[in-house]
Amino acid sequence: MLSPSNVTLALFHSLSLSFSFTNSLSFSPPLQTQVNSQRTRRTKLPCFSKSGQQRMANSNLYLDYHGLLLPKIAHTEESLNYLQNFQVKDDDVIAVTYPKSGTTWVQEILPPLLNGGDLTSVETIPNWDRVPWLEETRASVVLDKLHSPRALVSHMPYNLMPSSFFKSKAKVIYVARNPKDVLVSSFHFHQMASFLEDPGTFEEFVDKFLSGKVFFGKWADHVKSWRNPELGDRILYITYEEMFQDLRQVLGRILKFLGRELSAEALDRVVNHGTFKNMKTNKMSNYSLVPENIMDCKKSPFLRKGIAGDWKNHFSPELDAKFTAVIQEQMKGSNIRFPWDEE
Ligand SMILES: *[C@@H]1O[C@H](CO)[C@@H](O)[C@H](O)[C@H]1NC(C)=O
Repeated sequence: MLSPSNVTLALFHSLSLSFSFTNSLSFSPPLQTQVNSQRTRRTKLPCFSKSGQQRMANSNLYLDYHGLLLPKIAHTEESLNYLQNFQVKDDDVIAVTYPKSGTTWVQEILPPLLNGGDLTSVETIPNWDRVPWLEETRASVVLDKLHSPRALVSHMPYNLMPSSFFKSKAKVIYVARNPKDVLVSSFHFHQMASFLEDPGTFEEFVDKFLSGKVFFGKWADHVKSWRNPELGDRILYITYEEMFQDLRQVLGRILKFLGRELSAEALDRVVNHGTFKNMKTNKMSNYSLVPENIMDCKKSPFLRKGIAGDWKNHFSPELDAKFTAVIQEQMKGSNIRFPWDEE
């Protein structure tokens, strides 16, 4: 099994730095300089590749993968090759999210749902190694060591999944979140994460988000891609808002979808562990293991409020009207209705 004490955080692979989690974290000063100078240079957004080929974009912070911007800190040519060649197993469970839509939350609840309610892994293994992202650098390091059924996550749109995925019976749990709250969360995340571009003002960031000039592209494209009818009953759609409203009910739906059961007592334990309050103080999930110059929880904690509807504290009525109109246009013809559309 993986032990947190010797987990090397290759999240920083692309910055040619790795370090071990011991009692005290140490990192070399050059990284700090490197990250800060990259950030202050305020890199220009890269041009999207028209060829559809993978290539390095004109940005210090992101690479361009089939037109998708991916933060170089966790995505490399090797990690994306690994993704393409990854052999999905029929009993894999893959949670798919657009960034800032509840990924950490599913990383917290999936392992105990799959192992009879045992919380050991969520209490001892960092979320990125416990339920790894298929496209990130840690995948090649940890995936072979995971026991089946494996819980995995991905931010990839449907069409960029590995070819083995399409032939497999692996199940997918797609978590969507009100894009206004996704945007607010992403805005704060850009402020605290030195591996993302400076978000600019909130208004500027709204424009970037709507035009897809942010990591993993347009929210609407991502959501629509995963409504592909080819998926049939291999996919379960849930929302962050439903998890927030009634976690137990959502966990019940996930168990049913996976054909699994938990004792009432075990389910209680998972529900209790999965509350925002408890997740926020789980060192293995709140990103406090990441050095401050990479993710500065003093600027904004990674797990910030854990609420639904915080966008109302950030959007002016004009901005709200504009955002709603653009998203409606982008979703036109998709017939997808979300609970927040009725608000
Ligand atoms: C993360 O969890 C640790 C351990 O409970 C806690 O001391 C720390 O304050 C948490 N960090 C944040 C930003 O909430």
